[in-house]
Amino acid sequence: MKDQLLELKIRALKALESVAERSDVEKLTQQYLGRKGCFTLLLKRLPELPKEERPAIGKLVNQLKEELQRAFQAATDALTAKAEHEISVFDVTLPGRRSPLGHMHPITQTTEEICRIFVTLGFRVVQGPEVELDYYNFEALNMPKDHPARDMQDTFYISDNVVLRTHTSPMEIRVMEAQSPPVSIISPGKVYRPDSDISHTPMFHQVEGLLVDRGVTFGDLKGTLTTFVHQMFGHDTKLRFRPSFFPFTEPSAEVDIQCVVCKGKGCRTCSHTGWIEILGSGMNDPELYRFVGYDPESYSGFAFGLGVERIAMLKSGLDDIRLFFENDIRFLQQF
Ligand code: DAH
Repeated sequence: MKDQLLELKIRALKALESVAERSDVEKLTQQYLGRKGCFTLLLKRLPELPKEERPAIGKLVNQLKEELQRAFQAATDALTAKAEHEISVFDVTLPGRRSPLGHMHPITQTTEEICRIFVTLGFRVVQGPEVELDYYNFEALNMPKDHPARDMQDTFYISDNVVLRTHTSPMEIRVMEAQSPPVSIISPGKVYRPDSDISHTPMFHQVEGLLVDRGVTFGDLKGTLTTFVHQMFGHDTKLRFRPSFFPFTEPSAEVDIQCVVCKGKGCRTCSHTGWIEILGSGMNDPELYRFVGYDPESYSGFAFGLGVERIAMLKSGLDDIRLFFENDIRFLQQF
């Protein structure tokens, strides 16, 4: 038995010489020292030996086991050190790894595209506060307190006189207060209304436009918005001006474009009408000029407000506005 034991040890040490990975050492450990390993099995046969030999053999087994354990541990340590060394060696010939670059959110991209078109038409970009005074959001836009027109826009109130702006139109008043005509500005930004469903989110984006000068007519409004639609959606896109009502414009018009999905034939996207509304517009109500000290006899102007999400959805064929704000990287990466 003694010979058998010594031979086992030699075999184990020999096998250990050719290991390449830590998992190989683990396998050997199991094979020789594990619960069903060679040494354990031999030890179980101890009672077969004559009584006087047992203590010496038992001692030898334990000695050899310890010796092997040390050898296995040393092999594992050496392999660990080797692996760490390999990692720390820097291979200067490898190509560099670029850190992943993000990109602009699709709504920001669309906002910039809209602004770019109006800037080429001579409009200046201005931005204003999202937490707004009731005065700018409603009052000076010809919607006094208790006026039924306020019902058109559900509102988050901060206090009696402060709201989260429901549209970008307050910027019309702020700009007119700050400068005299001629004025031509657009104002992109976030707006808020307590609405939430497949086509509404409580926060969304608008771009407001305002132009005031001597002799501005509805023809200027039509020309400007037609140019915008053609640049944004293609020169063969038809549009129509539909009479509407806004408290701050007179006359008012909503602009529909021919459905980009069915080209006007009628489909689910356009509720089978062939047309899709993209913005509100109109000639400045002279009443507004009273609030800012412009002379309505000398000046006239037009304004418009468009929803950025609506335009981004039409351009990309999406039918659920909420996708823009779930921040799912797999969605955003497609833009
Ligand atoms: N502020 C309006 C809204 O959010 C949109 C709008 C309509 C803006 C007509 C205008 C305008 O400047 O002239 O529903």
